Amino acid sequence: MGKNKDPRHVAIIMDGNGRWATHRGLTRSTGHEKGTLNIQNVLRAFSDRGVAFVTLYAFSTENWNRPQSEVDSLMSLTVSSITEQLDQLNSEGIKITHLGEKFSLPTDVKQAIKRCESLTSSNEKLVLNIAFNYGGRTEIVKAVKQLLEENPHPEEITEEHISSRLYTKEIPDPDMIIRTAGEMRLSNFLIWQSAYSEYYSTNTLWPDFDESDVAEALDEYSKRTRKFGEL
Ligand code: IPE
Ligand code: IPE
Ligand code: MG
Repeated sequence: MGKNKDPRHVAIIMDGNGRWATHRGLTRSTGHEKGTLNIQNVLRAFSDRGVAFVTLYAFSTENWNRPQSEVDSLMSLTVSSITEQLDQLNSEGIKITHLGEKFSLPTDVKQAIKRCESLTSSNEKLVLNIAFNYGGRTEIVKAVKQLLEENPHPEEITEEHISSRLYTKEIPDPDMIIRTAGEMRLSNFLIWQSAYSEYYSTNTLWPDFDESDVAEALDEYSKRTRKFGEL
């Protein structure tokens, strides 16, 4: 089996903003703010290597369990960083989509997400999926509920029935999952879709993750042999 070409879809667990800030005696929200600043450069670096889909894990269904002040700052930071970066992302041909539950989000966050999706919907250079209020288990439960409402014959249910009812129904499965800040877990991210993804963890904290980390991750990916259970 030959070496891998560059991946088509890269999904990133952007972790370590809090540690980045704490190491510098700064507030955790300063870390989150810094974490949003490198997104455009990272996207450009992936795009230059032919990656067509990038998914960023920005807020999990479990992140609601953080102190209210941190949740509030993550919500307002999301709105302000979208407001600041949307025109630039749009001019670079990036199509933005949201993965997750919109229903329970504050109105201004919902509106900001809607603005991103509608302004960029016909862009074709790269698809940026923002996983926000995203949880893999919730996603699967939602798909199963939808399927049951359609009243299928149990013996006819296939994997495709589930896949086509996930938030990611229009997106190929991730070829590679990158996690920054050294942890070795998925934290409820794309648990169905990552069945055969190549997993890569780096100690670099998300605010420090740059073009050279992108190159390193893609280099590692190119050395992996994907077997999908075959010999
Ligand atoms: C990742 O950084 C961003 C979110 C989860 C929203 P963290 O806030 O988890 O940073 P650490 O893990 O505390 O360093
Ligand atoms: C995962 O990071 C969620 C995001 C990056 C949005 P966490 O920091 O929330 O994950 P755990 O709690 O360490 O597993
Ligand atoms: Mg963390």
